[in-house]
Amino acid sequence: MDFGMKNRLSRIIKPKTGKTVMLAVDHGYFQGPTTGLRDIKKTISPLVSHADCLFITRGMLRTSINPGTETAICLRVSGGPSILGELSNEDITTSMEEALRLNASGVGMSIFVGQENEDRTISNLGRLVNIAERYNMPVLAITAIGRDMARDARYLGLACRIAAETGARMVKTYYCEDFYKVVEGCPVPVVMAGGKKIPEKEALQMTANAVKEGASGVDMGRNIFQSDSPIGMIKAIKAVVHRGASVDEAYEIYNKSKK
Ligand code: R5P
Repeated sequence: MDFGMKNRLSRIIKPKTGKTVMLAVDHGYFQGPTTGLRDIKKTISPLVSHADCLFITRGMLRTSINPGTETAICLRVSGGPSILGELSNEDITTSMEEALRLNASGVGMSIFVGQENEDRTISNLGRLVNIAERYNMPVLAITAIGRDMARDARYLGLACRIAAETGARMVKTYYCEDFYKVVEGCPVPVVMAGGKKIPEKEALQMTANAVKEGASGVDMGRNIFQSDSPIGMIKAIKAVVHRGASVDEAYEIYNKSKK
């Protein structure tokens, strides 16, 4: 692997632990001003330095993030449809030049396996990888799940493997039973998305399970920024991911911060 690619990946996945805590705040690219991200600058500013990497669109990066940040940036570069339309109808919306100008350490896009536009989104991933590799820019593929899709190891394993086969350097997917099977079949690092907000202790347990089953960390949004203590939650998630802290210990970190 070339220096540039390795160096960018090391900004995202910390070499000391081989893990990452990515903070996902890209939800507005199809959801608009989501709960917790209405005033993205206000909510996210205190959290940025606690994350290893921020997963964000170029618009929010430009307007709402301090350029002096030492946190790595992974840029969401796909989009198109809003929550009112057909979500799988995505295309690449942000150029590689823009990603380089913004000093991104990675770029990310969604694929919609088993859904309308499956083939186009996977071809888009291939095209993005073709360009990104020229500049040693790692591509994170996100396995988007339609409302009717089964969230099981068979389906997520299929989607993650296709992402890796198409050239993604990292894959983001959701937690499921037998998550280790998803990781086993995917030769590039897998990070877990948090999904809908659940009670804090459950989110910590899910993170601990995912890491134990081989995840390289998380790219988590709502379970952090919609928590009653976003700082407490990101600190607790970090403890689980980087230190292998127990769920009880991590929950205590969250609780203390809340007080
Ligand atoms: C979807 O909007 C994005 O890919 C999110 O970055 C991803 O779902 C992670 O965020 P959350 O933990 O809120 O699911």
